[in-house]
Parts: sequence; structure tokens; C-alpha cells
Amino acid sequence: MIVDNAEISLLNFYRASELHGGLILGQMVRRTRDPQLILQLTRHSAEEVMHAQWWTETIIAVGGQPAPVRDTYQNRYVEAVGTPVSTIEVLALTQVFERRVYRHFRLHLRRPGLHPAIVATLRRMLEDEKRHLSWVQHWLEEQSKERSAEVRSVIERYVVADRRIYDTLVLEYGFRSAA
Ligand SMILES: [Fe+2]
Ligand SMILES: [Fe+2]
Repeated sequence: MIVDNAEISLLNFYRASELHGGLILGQMVRRTRDPQLILQLTRHSAEEVMHAQWWTETIIAVGGQPAPVRDTYQNRYVEAVGTPVSTIEVLALTQVFERRVYRHFRLHLRRPGLHPAIVATLRRMLEDEKRHLSWVQHWLEEQSKERSAEVRSVIERYVVADRRIYDTLVLEYGFRSAA
């Protein structure tokens, strides 16, 4: 089964973005004091880096080559909304991103003629993403008890940026869901 270059470069973009996301979360651990948050962030960071590894293995398994790219979903966020700095900003953006990834991976799974290795990796990753969505959601809800307006406005700003970034990516990578 042949996987074309367009699909390989999409997988390579996934790989680079998972890695970038994992590194950002890992950096955050270094300036976090709350023990519970240290635990969650470290696990989350490790799982995103592991996702980068799964994509790397998948790219090789389908006959492609992982290659360095500067372009990642996270770099596009920074261009659109600046670098998120506070914990609320980083985790709000993480939540918006994870929701997008979850929906997008499900769409990707519906593409016709997918290589079985890609199907397996997408399914495996969706399981982790559910957990990521739920702990970050819980943390943001806790923050909202005292700073509801701030949390809401940060999320809204990121949702708007995310929609624009995603629409552009869909065009650039020629991504189509099921025909
Ligand atoms: Fe991931
Ligand atoms: Fe995730």
C-alpha cells in the first residue's frame, strides 16, 4: 500500500507539532509550584513527546522519512496570538488545540484508503487525547471559579485564532475528510 508524499508531509507536520506541544508543556513544569499541576503537566508533556515518537515510527513504517520542519501548529498560534505566557494562557491554548486535534484526527480516520498503520496510530492517540482534554478542562473550570471572565476571554480569543489557522492548514495540506 502506497502512502503519497502529501500524506507523509501531513504526518510529519503532526509529528513536529506533537513534539513542540510536549516541549512547551515540559518547559512549563520548570516554573510550576503546585505539586498536582507538576504531576499532570509532566505526564502530559511526556505523552505528547511519545506521540511524536509514534508518528515518527508510523512515517517510517509506511515508507516515509521524518524531516525537520519549522512549521508547527504551535508556531502558527504564536504568529496569530503571540506567545502564551501565563499558566492560564498556556493551558487555555492547550485545550483549544486538543479539541481541534481530537476532531481532526477523527476526520482523518474517515479518509478512504488509509494505511492500517496510520489508522492504528490515530486510534491510539485519540485515547490519550481524551484524557488530556479532561484534566485540562477540569483545571480550567477550577480557575474559572475565581477568574471566570479572564478564562473565558482567553479561550474565546484562541478559538477565533484556531479557526483561522485550521482553515488555512486544510487548504495548504489539501486535507479532505471522507469523499
Ligand atoms: Fe498528542
Ligand atoms: Fe494531547
